[in-house]
Amino acid sequence: MWTIPKTGFIISVNMSFKENLTVLYGRNEIDFKVRQLAQVIKQDYEDKNPLFVSVLKGSFIFMADLARQLDFPLEIEFVRLSSYNEDTKSSGKINIVQDISFEVKNRHVLIVEDIVDSGLTVKFLKDMLEEQQAASVRVCALTNKPSRRTCAVDIDYLGFSVPDKFIVGYGLDLNQKFRNLPDICVLDEPKQQSEMR
Ligand code: IMP
Ligand code: MG
Repeated sequence: MWTIPKTGFIISVNMSFKENLTVLYGRNEIDFKVRQLAQVIKQDYEDKNPLFVSVLKGSFIFMADLARQLDFPLEIEFVRLSSYNEDTKSSGKINIVQDISFEVKNRHVLIVEDIVDSGLTVKFLKDMLEEQQAASVRVCALTNKPSRRTCAVDIDYLGFSVPDKFIVGYGLDLNQKFRNLPDICVLDEPKQQSEMR
């Protein structure tokens, strides 16, 4: 069980380790931001029958909330990518775990991402969609961690810039956990239970 406080408060998660989570952006702030993004996206895509490509798994909640704020025809596809890591450093190689099945040629595509960190995932996907001759490819990212960038990536629609901390919640995970937190939280260093007493 966890309880969710207002922004800036600290919550404890009842697990074998007690993680401290500090709310960075609360659910109301996220909701407001998603509505703002939807307004701009609507202006740009209303008459284009766009194809939204949601990058699994992290963007599934963002995609769902964004889609429900858009009241014009659009299509949604999912892609799952993973990056190979060597000695905790990204090798820069991206692996397609689940490819898109839609015809991309001549479509206006919007990539929907949870976070742009190194930028490698978005760059890989954008290049891939452009090779498939999409009419246009833009990027909508819920969060951006510019301090960690290793390759140039343009983010056309951005929710929040986040500090160089590991964030979880609202779809973002640590080892598949915390995706269901309604707020975007910073995960502090895990502490042994004994240290918490
Ligand atoms: P990239 O480094 O920009 O290619 O990002 C790769 C993926 O790493 C993102 O799509 C996220 O799923 C994940 N990621 C990067 N930073 C964080 C974080 O702070 N929390 C959770 N996932 C992250
Ligand atoms: Mg992601």
